[in-house]
Amino acid sequence: MLPPWQNSLTMRAARREPVERTPIWLMRQAGRYMAEYRAIRRETTFLELCKNPRLCAEIMLTAVERLRVDAAILFSDLLVILEPLGLELEFAAGEGPVIHNPVRRAEDLSRLRELENMDRLAFVPEAVRQTRAGLRDDLPLIGFAGAPFTLAAYAVEGGSSRDYRFTKSLMYADRGAWNALTDRLARAATVYLNAQIAAGAQMVQIFDSWAGCLGVEDFCEFALPATRRLVAALPAETPVIYFSTGNPAFLPHLREIGGGRKNMVFGVDWRIPLDDAWRILGEDAAVQGNLDPAVLLGAPDDIRRRAAAVLRQAGGRPGHIFNLGHGVLPQTPVENAVALVEAVRETSARRMDA
Ligand code: CP3
Repeated sequence: MLPPWQNSLTMRAARREPVERTPIWLMRQAGRYMAEYRAIRRETTFLELCKNPRLCAEIMLTAVERLRVDAAILFSDLLVILEPLGLELEFAAGEGPVIHNPVRRAEDLSRLRELENMDRLAFVPEAVRQTRAGLRDDLPLIGFAGAPFTLAAYAVEGGSSRDYRFTKSLMYADRGAWNALTDRLARAATVYLNAQIAAGAQMVQIFDSWAGCLGVEDFCEFALPATRRLVAALPAETPVIYFSTGNPAFLPHLREIGGGRKNMVFGVDWRIPLDDAWRILGEDAAVQGNLDPAVLLGAPDDIRRRAAAVLRQAGGRPGHIFNLGHGVLPQTPVENAVALVEAVRETSARRMDA
């Protein structure tokens, strides 16, 4: 018999099967906007927190209960995978992530190691195991990794960037070096995601948070191929969510990432109406999104109205997972996030009855 989470609302929606109501979870659903998170965070640095599976599980399980969302996501960070590759990572207070020894030129690539195994990242599958063990069995656990382009951009820039000039310089100047870098990161992300799946993650999300800085032709040439290889190396029965943000011009090309995979879901942000995005992706795609996270800074009435508008655009098509178009903002009142989940539950259940 299938474990109950395989038939959860979120898993069924990812497979485009019928559901009684639209499942919802939120990117960054556990984080600084929650008092429980801030209390734990006062005792430790963010990186130490990521390496403490017990606290990672506790943080995510608390958020899932508080919000009553339909999925948990591994509590970790996109960038912890870079440490065993030889990059020195620090989350500096108020600055976000910093890499002290970025790979700027082709010569630097020789010091980027291959991720042979999970020995130095054992805390990640352990956090998956502990979160799965504490999670209600009708909810799935989502594992995650960065897409090769986004991981490469962090490794090259050494932190956040406005113009991505180091990344694009390397990409344009030395295609061989760029391909070697993104291939190495795709192989690392393959090992990393397969370890999460083996430890108990039912589906995975690939974050391409920085891809939106590329023009569509560069996206197809320099980012998409390595992501496609990563997706192809994951088990066929595991749904894969590909999330990028900032450039709706990518939409006509995203299906190539799945290479015909059945349970592929595409994350869409708020810059394009959900029904337009769906039409471009194809009516037979599964879609996740797409409320602007800034809506949660406003009044509950407006949140309900805009959530209903997203559901109207989804129009009862199979294969919709409700989410924000990007992560919850740290300034979000928790009760507004709760109100959104409540509104999506009620409104989508009514729609499905109709
Ligand atoms: O969604 C969740 O609740 C699970 C946890 C999660 C975190 N980071 C926790 C976090 C996930 C899925 C991520 C992914 C991640 N990390 C992404 C992709 C998603 C996205 O937002 O596009 C990216 C780009 C990162 C890199 C990262 N981590 C940045 C740029 C920052 C600093 C900016 C910020 O928002 O603070 C982080 C820090 C981070 N990751 C925090 C949390 C809870 C805050 C850390 C703190 O307590 O100071």
